Amino acid sequence: MPIKSVTVRVPAKVNLQLSVGPRESDGYHQLVTVFQAISIFDDVTIRIGEQGSGVNLTVSGDQIHGVPTDSSNLVVKAVELIADIKKSIPVAGGMAGGSADAAAAIVAIDELYSIEMTREEMHSIASQLGSDVPFLLSGGTAIGQGRGDQLTAALSRGTYHWVLALSSVGLSTPAVYDECDRLRAERDISPPRISDQLMQALLAGDAKAVGTSLSNDLQSAACTLRPALSLVLDVGQEYGALGAIVSGSGPTVAFLVADEEAGLDLAVALTSSGVVGSVARAFGPVHGAKIL
Ligand code: C5P
Repeated sequence: MPIKSVTVRVPAKVNLQLSVGPRESDGYHQLVTVFQAISIFDDVTIRIGEQGSGVNLTVSGDQIHGVPTDSSNLVVKAVELIADIKKSIPVAGGMAGGSADAAAAIVAIDELYSIEMTREEMHSIASQLGSDVPFLLSGGTAIGQGRGDQLTAALSRGTYHWVLALSSVGLSTPAVYDECDRLRAERDISPPRISDQLMQALLAGDAKAVGTSLSNDLQSAACTLRPALSLVLDVGQEYGALGAIVSGSGPTVAFLVADEEAGLDLAVALTSSGVVGSVARAFGPVHGAKIL
């Protein structure tokens, strides 16, 4: 019999800018990225069963197929990690997926066990689980530096409307970074830097200027590994998107549009073009992992 359960809603993100520096000796790249949390959510429910039965994990949302249920799952790792800190926490078991769900698990566990972690403690656990996990705790719009995990809030006005072209087959993040290095092998790579143009556009709440300022150093690598992405980017531009970008290491392509109506038109155009698997619409910025 469950004695307590907590559900945490956690958003997806898009990268409005992803500037990738050279590979460091630890295998990671120095990044400057601008994240925006968008209104596509997973709900992660964590339930404490009878004493000794462990932690029961439930995940719901649009993208749950293919979620690992074994100990490779980031949520299982999150539970184990917190158990290390608070030694009386029951052993984990369940199903979840990806960085967002790991962020949700941290928040849920903190609440379930009344750990009352500080933001810094949650952030520290999150960054050990993955470079994007800390941002999903806080949400909104933020600049990520270091591996992408050192966050500062970005000043942003207004609401931005997105159309997302999703792919049923993923791309491996390490493979995309490797391809990026390969494509740039002959060049001197400068340290990553923030786009002042993007920062000003966000501050002004100027969606058109945000659209033309979107940039991603991983985009050509993602398009080389998945040539169909170039077609998807073209369709969006043709149908009046303010900007189009591969989000993170892909393969999701994010189109910024002027308003909901433009989003609907573009979603219909993308669907009928036959070049995308499925289409979603969202707005941002939204909150990070939040207890329901
Ligand atoms: O931190 P996370 O586990 O999400 O990173 C996945 C992979 O992405 C890493 O193993 C690395 O290959 C690549 N990566 C990188 N530089 C970063 C972040 C991620 O090379 N700053």
